[in-house]
Parts: sequence; structure tokens; C-alpha cells
Amino acid sequence: ANYNTKKSRGQIVETLVEGLSKLEYRGYDSTGIGIDSEHEFDDKSPVKAIQLIRQVGKVASLRDEIASQNLDISEILENHVGIAHTRWATHGGVTQSNCHPQPSDSKNEFIVVHNGIITNYRELKTFLKTKGYTFNSDTDTEIIAKLFKYYYEKDTDLEFYQLAKEVLYQLQGSYGLLVKSVYYPNEVVATRKGSPLLIGVKSEQKLKVDFVDVEFINEQEQKQQHSESAHSSSNFLAPPSKVKFDIRKSESRAILPDYNKPIEFFISSDASSVVEHTKKVLFLEDDDIAHIDSGELHIHRARKSAGMSTTRPVQTLEMQLAEIMRGGYDHFMMKEIFEQPDSTYNTMRGRIDFKNKTVTLGGIKDYLTSIRRSRRFQMIACGTSYHSCLAVRSLFEELTEAPVSVDLASDFLDRSPPIFRDDTVIFVSQSGETADSMQCLKYCRAAGALTVGVVNSVGSSISRDTDCGVHINAGPEIGVASTKAYTSQYIALVMIALQISNHVITTAARHKEIIQGLSEIPKKIEKVLKQSEHIKEISEKYLHGRDSMLIVGRGYQYASALEGALKIKEISYIHAEGIQAGELKHGVLALVDEKLPIVAFATQDSFSPKVNSALQQITAREGHPIIICSEGDNIIDRSKASAMIEVPQTIDCLQGLINIVPLQMMGYYLSISAGNNPDRPRNLAKSVTVE
Ligand code: G6P
Repeated sequence: ANYNTKKSRGQIVETLVEGLSKLEYRGYDSTGIGIDSEHEFDDKSPVKAIQLIRQVGKVASLRDEIASQNLDISEILENHVGIAHTRWATHGGVTQSNCHPQPSDSKNEFIVVHNGIITNYRELKTFLKTKGYTFNSDTDTEIIAKLFKYYYEKDTDLEFYQLAKEVLYQLQGSYGLLVKSVYYPNEVVATRKGSPLLIGVKSEQKLKVDFVDVEFINEQEQKQQHSESAHSSSNFLAPPSKVKFDIRKSESRAILPDYNKPIEFFISSDASSVVEHTKKVLFLEDDDIAHIDSGELHIHRARKSAGMSTTRPVQTLEMQLAEIMRGGYDHFMMKEIFEQPDSTYNTMRGRIDFKNKTVTLGGIKDYLTSIRRSRRFQMIACGTSYHSCLAVRSLFEELTEAPVSVDLASDFLDRSPPIFRDDTVIFVSQSGETADSMQCLKYCRAAGALTVGVVNSVGSSISRDTDCGVHINAGPEIGVASTKAYTSQYIALVMIALQISNHVITTAARHKEIIQGLSEIPKKIEKVLKQSEHIKEISEKYLHGRDSMLIVGRGYQYASALEGALKIKEISYIHAEGIQAGELKHGVLALVDEKLPIVAFATQDSFSPKVNSALQQITAREGHPIIICSEGDNIIDRSKASAMIEVPQTIDCLQGLINIVPLQMMGYYLSISAGNNPDRPRNLAKSVTVE
């Protein structure tokens, strides 16, 4: 949203499209923008009609489509609001009519972009159909645009944010929404529930944050209103009665600039698309309705929540644009794999005193007494983050002497297991926005447990909503397949276990050994990276073009096997299965023959004899494994192996940090040799903000 900026249409379109290209890693099956066109909406008003340009495919296809539309790019638009979206399909296939922005009608009276899922969209759609609305897409988002039109037609005097309240009242599910309308020229409404949204403010003047007014309906009445309107089919969508619920009075905090000076607002689900314009941002909370009009930003509340802070401070982002660029690498993924000597060091920097062999985590130290009182630990995560929890589980149990459960967030939600006030629950997430993990966080908070976040994205939902936590400081991770976040999460969890147990005298020697081991990790990872050519050759020779493969490990290396298999699946699209080596004999051996590719982790630790026996079970069935072993190993029988990858030895519980690197590289090379883009695997998204 621009006010007094005198930008050309071309500049505005470029800002929107460039912003989308920064967000492409979140979802990229279709894109679209909505801007003011060169033509009047109708003969009676001077308001410009809204023009939608939408395209299936990546941002590059949208650029081509925009170029083919011959827009008047030189026209100066003193004030303007444009919205844009890059989509990862949840409801409805990948088609042009399902792209966002979704319009309310063929004249684009209201247009909406939406992240998230509206769970009651079927009921709302049925209702709107009875009112004569017809639908052009299979999206849940289209109903939102139509609800705006429906309520506007009921009361054309409503201000834009008041209209938004009427609509939000009907929505169940999750959303991050932006709405633009011909009836509210140069205004935009932005609101969220369970889906992130932030507002960047670019202004030469000092921002004045002002308080306007507060008044809420009695909460009891509000609840009653809500249940009446949302659940009863007879008066479904009944507008809240004006007597009981005066939507015109609500809390609002405002940024009020000097009208004559230029001011721009950049609203986005992710800071990476805002940071090149401004570092001044404020994060919206669930149920906030941000309304931008005439250069003023007001934040209203859709519902009152007890204990909710009434301020939304303007914060300064630390992120550098250069950090999210690709450097000299062909792909972000390779850059991120090669960054691991630095990123693992950055996770430890300022926290581990290598000389005195101590760990201090500022983010949890005030909560240590409560954490140590916990009778058990629960870790919750998805995807790669889940594997990092599995990788440290046994060390965590060893050092804390408490039982540790590790759950996939989706499975945890399905089970809704008992959680107690004296539980400590650790949420591990690169993005800090994963919807399943966020839902679990709400559940555990409601149960009164102490919640700890282990997150990469500063300012993300999980980092803000947990009681305390540790940022892994790996730097922005753009490649969809997580690499450097894994090694940094692993180290952060090891540090947490060390910090929790540093008062226990009997573990002192083990502590020293682990801290010494951690200090050597960056250099050891560097040594593995030097073998990239060797790993590339092995991948191309033994794994490329195969239908399926097994990745085998046990003990500390079981997590490496699962994470290695995930890397290969995600980006090469080859089926890969991580196997606990002890389970081979319980079924998997039936698959083994001279053709099935197998990668086995056989670095030395106390489980080596058992791993050797698994290798024998494989070679006895004519299997020819690729073996990842410790440098200079002379115990393993190499005669039947297809290939060996020797990696530096470290102490048992840290070995997974080294061992995962060859598998990350295998995934990368297999993806390249299959002709895929490893940064943008099909059907996947970096940050999954839908359940
Ligand atoms: C998606 C990503 C994975 C990631 C998982 C969990 O599936 O593609 O790379 O591991 O989400 O994400 P989180 O941000 O919570 O770590």
C-alpha cells in the first residue's frame, strides 16, 4: 500500500512480483496479482476497476503473462493498494480459476488472497448458493470474497474493517487474508488466525503509534452470538445484532503519519519479501484486523481474548537480503549444505565456552528450575525437525535421566495424549510456523505444560508463543529440503540437554567430552564436504535411475537413516526407506537381493558389532551396500561393498551431525541427475502453514 509515493504502475507491479519471488519457496504452483487498472469501474464513479493477472506455474510465468497484457506501466499512481499471492494448492487443483486473488464476482468488486484453510467452507458455500451466488473456483477462498460482497450489500455504510469483522465472524479454520475492493479504493484489510502475517512500514518520518479507542461486547454475549451464527442452520449467517455487539466500537492502535509525506506498507506472511524495502515491521496476532487507509494503519480486534497484549510494537529486522541470496551456488540447497561448518558454529557461538567447557543458553536459563522439575520431556515436530529430535533422544534421556517421548505433531494431535503441568514440551521447527506443530503448542499450553521452542525463524509464531526457547541461528534456509537447519537443531537440542544437566556431578566427564566433540564439528563437516566429487560419482553410478533404496542404521544412526531417506525422497523422487538395522530380519530382508541399492551407516560406536551383523545379513543375500564408515576403519569387511565413504570420527552422540552430510549431498546429486530443481521439489512447500 503506497501513499503519496507517486510510483508508476510498473514500479508497483514490480514490487508485488519481486515480493512473490521471495515467497516462492513457500508454495509455487500458481501466482497472481490484483491492482488498480487504467479503466473506471463504472460510469458513475471515478474509481478504477480492479485488474487481476493470474497464472498457473512459477513467478516467471506470471512475469510473462504481465508482459503480454500491455499495461500502462508509466501512469503515476499517487496512492495505490495491490495484493499478490503464490499458491500451494490445498482446496482445488492447480488451475487458473483457482489462483488467488479470488474475486467476489466477474467485476472484481472484492478480491482476496488467503493462506490457510476454511474448515466450514461447505456450509458457507451452501448458504451463499441459496442467496443466488454462483462459484467459479474450487477454492475455499472464493467464499470469503463472496461473503464480503454479501455483507457489503447488506450495509454499504460499513467501514472496510467493520465489514471484515462481519465476514470473520463466519469463518472457521485458519487464515492469513488480504482484501482489496473497488468500494474502498486505496484501502486494504489484513487479518490472520493461525497463519502468520506481518506489516513492514517504510516512512521517512518518525512513526507515531497512537491509541484510539477500546470497547468490547461483554464476552459472554459475544460467545453466544458466535455459536448462534456459526452453528445453527436456521439463522446461519445471521448478522450480529447491533444492540448486543456494536462492531463500530473496537480497539484500534494506529500508526498515524504526516499526510503529506510518503509512506508505504508491505504486508506479507514472511519477512523475506519485506526486508529489501524496510526493516521496520510489526507482527499481527490472531484475530487482529489491520486496516490501512489514507496512509494510516489501524489495528482492530475481531474478538477479545483475555490477556492479549494491546500493543503491537514496531520491531527492527536483523535479516540481511544478501543472506537469503544464493551466493555462488547453483541452488540454495547446495549453498546451505556447504554453509554447515559456519551454521553449526553459529548455533554454538556465544553459548558454549569451549575453554571452560560450559554451556549457557540465555533463552532458557530463567526456566531451568521448572524444566529440571519435569518428570518427563515431550518433543514435538514434523519432517526433518522430527528427525533431529530422534537423533538426540537417547542423549537427552542419558543426561536428564528422565523419559523422553518424541512425536510427530500430526500424530500427537490425532492422539491428544495426556499432558501435565509438570511436563516440559519442546517444539522443534525451522520455520516456527508449521500448522501441526502450532496446534500442538496450543494444546500443551492449555494443559499448563512448560513449552520450549527450538526455532530458526526469529519472530515466528512458535518462537513467540512458547514460554522460552533457543534460536538455532542457522540463518535463513530457503531450499525446501532442510539441511543446515537439521544439524543446527541437533546441536541446539544437545546444548539444551547439557544445560539442563549441568548441575549433575556424575555427568561432568561426559559433558566435557561432548563439548570437546562439539568444538570439532565444523572442521569435521568441512572434511566431509571435500568429498563431494566422490559422493557425486557414487550417487550417479549406484543410485541414479533406481526405483527404490534402503538406508540402514541403528542406535544414534537410526535418525540419520530416516533423515537420509527423507532427503532422497523429497528431491530426487526416488523411493527411499530408512530402516532400523535391527529390524532387517523382521521383514525388510525379503527385499534384499543383488540389485536393491542399500546405504548403511557403520561408523564406530558401541553398536558397531550389531551393525556388522546387519551388514553380514545384507551381503549374505548378495546385497552390495554403500557403507559410510569411520576414517581408516579396518574392521568392516569391504570386499562385498559397492563403495565406501569414510567420514571423520566423533563421539557417539554427535556422529549423526557428520554422517548426515553425505546423504544430503546424495539427495542433491540425485535430484540434479534426474533433472529436478532441488530447491523446489514438486508437491512440497518449505513452510506448511496448513494442517
Ligand atoms: C515441510 C518442509 C520440511 C520440514 C517440515 C517441518 O515439510 O518441507 O523440510 O522439515 O515442513 O517444518 P518446520 O519448519 O516445522 O521445521
